Amino acid sequence: MTSRHTDRKFEEFIPIARTDEVPEGKGRVIKVNDKSVALFHVGGRFYAINNICPHQGGPLGKGKVKKYLVTCPWHDLQFDIRSGFGGDGGGNCVASYEVRVEGDQVYVCLQTRDVWSLE
Ligand code: FES
Repeated sequence: MTSRHTDRKFEEFIPIARTDEVPEGKGRVIKVNDKSVALFHVGGRFYAINNICPHQGGPLGKGKVKKYLVTCPWHDLQFDIRSGFGGDGGGNCVASYEVRVEGDQVYVCLQTRDVWSLE
């Protein structure tokens, strides 16, 4: 296991990608059950947030990533990929999901993350 995590049970996590499917510094859109998830690989770690931008639904997983900020490809709102918080410090936020890595497999828990447990 390469990521710190909460005490969620491993059974709550769903495999969503292999580590080599998301290059360092990039994001990817992945459909998981009924959710669209933006998975990012930054600094050797993986982060997952809701893919749907709260402004008008732009695909955040297709946005440019700079350090821990992703820029929505439609109108440039920014979000912290670690927390889902809006980069403007305002009210625009998206759900953040806990990620675990086992070997070359990335897993996500689709229950919205408790912001007080952010790493
Ligand atoms: S849809 Fe994302 S900024 Fe407008």
